[in-house]
Amino acid sequence: MVIGIAADHGGYELKQMIRQHLEQQRFTIIDFGAYLLNTADDYPDFVLPLAEAVGGGKADRGIAVCGSGVGACIAANKVKGVRAALISEHFSAHQGVEDDDMNLICLGGRVVGVNAAIEFVDAFLAAKYSGAARHERRLAKVKKIEGP
Ligand code: RB5
Repeated sequence: MVIGIAADHGGYELKQMIRQHLEQQRFTIIDFGAYLLNTADDYPDFVLPLAEAVGGGKADRGIAVCGSGVGACIAANKVKGVRAALISEHFSAHQGVEDDDMNLICLGGRVVGVNAAIEFVDAFLAAKYSGAARHERRLAKVKKIEGP
C-alpha cells in the first residue's frame, strides 16, 4: 500500500512521528512535506499535492496533519476523488473507511497525542471498504456532486 503524508508547521512533529511509525511497517511512504519546521508555512502547499496523489490514484491512502486538522480537511476535500475526514477517535478512523470509503484522514497535531494518533492511523490503514449496496448507493450520490 502506498501511503502519502503531509503536514504544515502545526502538524510537523506529529507527521514525523507517524512517518517513523509507518517506516517500521510494510508501507511505501510518499512524504509531501513539510520537510522542515517553518512556522510561516501554509497547509494547502502540502495538503493539496497529497490530496491530488490520493485522488489521482498515485497513493492509496493519505494522512494530513495541521494544527487542528480542520484546514487540511477543508483543502483535501476540494480535490476530486478525495474522501477526507478529521479524525479524533478510534471508531470513525475505521468506520469511515468501511462505510464511506474514506481515503484520507486529517489529524490535529495540537489536538491529539502521538499514541492516540498512531492508533487512529493503524485503524484507518487496516480498514477496508465494505462495498455494501447501501454504501455504494450513498457514495454514488456523493460522487455525483463532484461531476464527471
Ligand atoms: C497554523 O497555525 C494552523 O492554523 C493550521 O495548522 C491549522 O490548524 C489550520 O486548520
